[in-house]
Amino acid sequence: MARSTLGFVCQACGALHPKWAGKCDECGAWNTLVEEAAAPPTGGAARRVGKGRVFPLEGLASEEKEPPRRVTGVEEFDRVAGGGLVPGSALLIGGDPGVGKSTLLLQVVASYASRGGRAVYISGEEAPAQLRMRANRMGLSGSPLQLGSATGVEDILATLSGASPPGVLVIDSIQTIWTQSLDAPPGTIGQLRTATQDLVRYAKGSGTTLLLVGHVTKEGQIAGPKAVEHLVDAVLYFEGERAHQFRILRAVKNRFGATDEIGVFEMTGAGLAEVPNPSALFLGDRSGLAPGTAVFAGIEGTRPLLVEIQALVAPTSFGSARRAVVGWDSGRLSMILAVLDARAGLGIASQDVYLNVAGGLKVSEPAADLAAAAALISSLTGQPVPGDCVVFGEISLSGDVRLANQGELRLKEAAKLGFKSAIVPAGTKVDGTNLELKPVADVRDLAAILGLERNEKRKKVIHFTKGEANHE
Ligand code: TYD
Ligand code: MG
Repeated sequence: MARSTLGFVCQACGALHPKWAGKCDECGAWNTLVEEAAAPPTGGAARRVGKGRVFPLEGLASEEKEPPRRVTGVEEFDRVAGGGLVPGSALLIGGDPGVGKSTLLLQVVASYASRGGRAVYISGEEAPAQLRMRANRMGLSGSPLQLGSATGVEDILATLSGASPPGVLVIDSIQTIWTQSLDAPPGTIGQLRTATQDLVRYAKGSGTTLLLVGHVTKEGQIAGPKAVEHLVDAVLYFEGERAHQFRILRAVKNRFGATDEIGVFEMTGAGLAEVPNPSALFLGDRSGLAPGTAVFAGIEGTRPLLVEIQALVAPTSFGSARRAVVGWDSGRLSMILAVLDARAGLGIASQDVYLNVAGGLKVSEPAADLAAAAALISSLTGQPVPGDCVVFGEISLSGDVRLANQGELRLKEAAKLGFKSAIVPAGTKVDGTNLELKPVADVRDLAAILGLERNEKRKKVIHFTKGEANHE
């Protein structure tokens, strides 16, 4: 095959450079330029330049009914996908190696096949015997799923062209797939892009739903990140700490559904188990009341989710104060600390502060501010936040507490799990729960509820030592 124009493609960002260089001008990455042949023009041989074909333009209104979604039966997965898989669409499932992507997809398509659909699982990483062993262990051996082991796009498309197209096709993983039409090695951006394009074209033409597995690089991006993400209809990330058994499936792009939805799974000895009520899981055992913890009544997508936020405030032993945050934004923590100092005079910012979201969950809602502040104040004073109390609300730079969306849904979930009271933004309306509401208008109200005397004049920075409540 004749080489078309050559270029040097950055393997980190996909930028094309005419000449080799040590550093990519676009993204600043070092040593990432690889010589690749440019993708051949689609449609085969030499590109004909001539008069274009006239195609009809259409209106929005249509007689056609939306095709029914393909429900796989793994509810957590279906919900994140937007209520089932759309025929002819392509989804990319990204995640760290070993997080459980293959396990998840094997379960999803086996479930789809058991419900009567045709599902094909092509692995470029494992032989069918290995997959069969894994499926056996997961109790899926009765499913009429079809397995294959291949890495060539042409082989895969030839294999699928004969029979009626499958409803769902899994390609595990895109990094192992390559096409003969490019003479770049598998795994390079050019290969990734061309192979994905070919598979997506097949999916659109045949109505098959394509599920692509993509490994994430050390930097947390799907290798050749933007190169593939824009080719697919949805990008789902499967994440979780190796040390925890929880795994979270999160939509980061979805043309057919919401992107704030999460699916929660638990890794067990026999594959992934769905967790329909994640609040109970993330709260864990809360019998021993310790200062420095607060339960945040959050919302993930359409679902309420209660999580414990843990804080530790300790006197700084060396010059500058240390900050460590797991599961929350560190910039947000700095902001809350500054607001607590400036508006409630707590003198907390000069101390070492550690903050952790329990269970390995990542919280990104601004409504978590108040819960984080409650945990911080509680650790500072040594007085626990009442164990039967949930907290939510957004803190503004002025120290005011803002209303959070879907307050009622959050409170209902808390009531369902046996909580008795809630610290909420002033003005939160609620019917139908018998929680005792403790409204707060600003961070000083919060400090007062947690046992610090409300003192408008308190502006001077005062220092508390941990474990010693100071009501001065
Ligand atoms: P895998 O799906 O192979 O990860 P990926 O495809 O994302 O690279 O999952 C591998 C991990 O999952 C492995 O470390 C072991 C664990 N695992 C279980 O704990 N239980 C199981 O039933 C299976 C199949 C895997
Ligand atoms: Mg795998």
